[in-house]
Amino acid sequence: MASRAVWRRGASAWLRASREPPGVPRSRGCAGARGSREVVPTCERYAVRRLPFGRLADGDVAFFERLMPGRVVTGQEEVRPFNVDWLQSVRGCSQLVLKPQTTAEVSQVLRYCHERNLAVNPQGGNTGLVGGSVPVFDEIVLSTALMNRIISFDRVSGILVCQAGCVLERLNEYLEEQGFIMPLDLGAKGSCHIGGNVATNAGGLRLLRYGSLRGTVLGLEVVLADGSALDCLTSLRKDNTGYDLKQLFIGSEGTLGVITAVSILCPQKPKAVNVAFLGCQSFAKVLETFTTCRAMLGEILSAFEFMDEKCMELVERHLKLSSPVADSPFYVLIETSGSNSTHDEEKLNNFLEKAIASGLVSDGTMATDYKKIKVLWSLRERITEALTHEGYVYKYDISLPVGKLYELVTDMRARLGHRAKNVLGYGHLGDGNLHLNITAESYSHSLLDAIEPFVYEWTARCSGSISAEHGLGFKKKQFIQYSKPQQAVLLMQRFKAMLDPKGILNPYKVLPSAHERSMS
Ligand code: FAD
Ligand code: MLT
Ligand code: ZN
Repeated sequence: MASRAVWRRGASAWLRASREPPGVPRSRGCAGARGSREVVPTCERYAVRRLPFGRLADGDVAFFERLMPGRVVTGQEEVRPFNVDWLQSVRGCSQLVLKPQTTAEVSQVLRYCHERNLAVNPQGGNTGLVGGSVPVFDEIVLSTALMNRIISFDRVSGILVCQAGCVLERLNEYLEEQGFIMPLDLGAKGSCHIGGNVATNAGGLRLLRYGSLRGTVLGLEVVLADGSALDCLTSLRKDNTGYDLKQLFIGSEGTLGVITAVSILCPQKPKAVNVAFLGCQSFAKVLETFTTCRAMLGEILSAFEFMDEKCMELVERHLKLSSPVADSPFYVLIETSGSNSTHDEEKLNNFLEKAIASGLVSDGTMATDYKKIKVLWSLRERITEALTHEGYVYKYDISLPVGKLYELVTDMRARLGHRAKNVLGYGHLGDGNLHLNITAESYSHSLLDAIEPFVYEWTARCSGSISAEHGLGFKKKQFIQYSKPQQAVLLMQRFKAMLDPKGILNPYKVLPSAHERSMS
């Protein structure tokens, strides 16, 4: 072991006995913690023109009251949390939230809205990070909060079928009792809904191991804009009958249909989980650690995450977490998941010995016990929350060739200089996914102009994607051309026109529209 390295098994050296593992940030709870500042209406900040949809009338509200008594929200204060996003960066002015419980009710709502030309914003847990989950104007919010029923779980196949409004963390708890887990995990698990996860094709912390929802989602039930229900809720691993229509709705961010139920393949709960948290002295060493890690841990590697020192500084300052590892420019979190703890620990130890001996890693700690693992994960998972304490957050979620990941952060830092409070990077390194975040005391057009389109041009030059996992929503839709050819965008617009001819489903989102002024 290299002389600099301080190797602490079980992470006990730094864990304060009194500290409980932190709770999962909840969408509205977290925003409350830093005070509810007034958010400028989206239509004003971005100068958007309202499209000619119908306007809500008393008769409409009366219809919905009859359809779902007690589940129609109209009070200004009660509606407010559904109008503002988790980041408190965009704000709509909807006057109506509907909370259906069944697919039949969703169908009736959409049939009615379609006839009346009323625009609708599907909403799950409202944890989306691109402004897609809240209205821009007065769109009716269709919340899946009460569609939270588990329909079935087959222990032999591991296939779960549930309504779209089930909270991800509740599903995971339910499965854990039966020896299974959800194939995806993310920091917003305590609030986000599985329907929202599918609608955004969320990636998260387990994608390296279990792959994307495009592979694990087996079937969907979707209500289309005209109210007709499309039943593709199959639970088959293999089904090559015609086009795979469910793929169209995965990642469509509420613009093509409302997902009402999901069938998903769930892996067995791993019997042995270990987490190592390591310090690296350069990004080149982070990359080499990843290569070594993949070669030596192979099939048991389940996550490889990274964060820079600025991220650590902010989680320590704002969330009162403490770093288990001596000051380093970069940190990596490695998780292994397997079925034999002796075998897995031995593999991980061999890897760690090598990483330290070869100078790739300068300091580190390892946890095998559930509580300590959670504490280590919270250092990475809660960066998003820590950032919100810094003011306004400009968020970028980029796919790049892995070797290039941190260059974008360095270039952006040099470009913005003192105009930004922080320019930092973290993300799912194992997936080639960088989260570049820039913070400032408050939102400013000029800072945004300094960041965009530079960040998108940079990404396009490297053949990357301007949205790896968060989607395009409202904030990125005008920039789709940096990642997709015009022909592809035109085909998407044709799909949209076919499935939602009146454009009532989540308007102003995902696809650029000729009616709106460019935001660039
Ligand atoms: P919402 O935010 O309510 O909606 C998101 C979009 O989906 C909107 O466009 C909405 O219209 C649409 N939608 C929602 N439900 C439906 C439905 N039933 N039918 C049709 N459309 C629907 N994302 C990642 O990919 N990886 C991460 O690691 C990750 N970590 C996060 C950590 C934190 C702390 C936070 C706040 C967010 C994180 N996110 C992450 C982003 C967000 O959690 C995901 O996008 C999540 O999948 C959104 O789910 P939701 O239920 O909150 O959806
Ligand atoms: C994450 O990986 O932490 C999420 O995608 C959220 C974020 O980008 O902040
Ligand atoms: Zn992420």
